[in-house]
Amino acid sequence: MNLLRNATLDTIHARHSIRQFSPEPLSEDMLTTILDAANQAPSAHNRQSWKFVVLEGDARTELAERVSTISKTFEKPASSLLRMAARSIASAPVTIAVVNTGDLISHGTELFQVDKDQAFDFFRTMEIQSSAAAVENLLLAATSLGLGAVWLGILYLVKDRVLDFLQEPGGEFMAVVPVGKPLRPTQGPNKKPLENVVKKI
Ligand SMILES: Cc1cc2nc3c(=O)[nH]c(=O)nc-3n(C[C@H](O)[C@H](O)[C@H](O)COP(=O)(O)O)c2cc1C
Repeated sequence: MNLLRNATLDTIHARHSIRQFSPEPLSEDMLTTILDAANQAPSAHNRQSWKFVVLEGDARTELAERVSTISKTFEKPASSLLRMAARSIASAPVTIAVVNTGDLISHGTELFQVDKDQAFDFFRTMEIQSSAAAVENLLLAATSLGLGAVWLGILYLVKDRVLDFLQEPGGEFMAVVPVGKPLRPTQGPNKKPLENVVKKI
């Protein structure tokens, strides 16, 4: 069987995590296009309860420095992963943080007519899945523009400090994504063969 190809599928295949960036700035058009793509994602009950915080210039280097400093308080491998994350943020011209506002958690009870406490996990899962869809759109849009990006989930370990820095103390940490031109061409890891992950019943 042949895999079909088109521009969207080519972008999906081309996307892989980029962790080192050239300092070349992103144009405003590129940045806005990426943010718009993220904002087009599906979301539970169409709440669109994400917020994108854009860090450029000093804000970006300040976050990288803070993460690098905090990394020293962790054991390996967390300390190394945090340090790597700091280096990626420092090298990228732009970092986009994705924060969830918790809107669905706040209003889920009225929307779904279910008990708030019982359904907390449901609402929270829906929020995380919606923001994850936005992050994937962001990654794909960056790839389609010849840029690279990486989803830095490790910053969850220091999420309260990151949220404070983003001036979003009430938000829920979803992702921090440095974006820029890849420093050098790289290849992503191979994915598992389809037959290992697909079951037909
Ligand atoms: C939820 C999530 C969290 C991630 N966190 C990190 C991270 O903290 N640091 C990092 O270097 N890569 C991180 N990644 C990227 C993964 O390591 C990467 O997607 C995986 O190795 C597959 O490689 P690929 O993206 O090149 O296909 C994360 C990816 C996801 C989806």
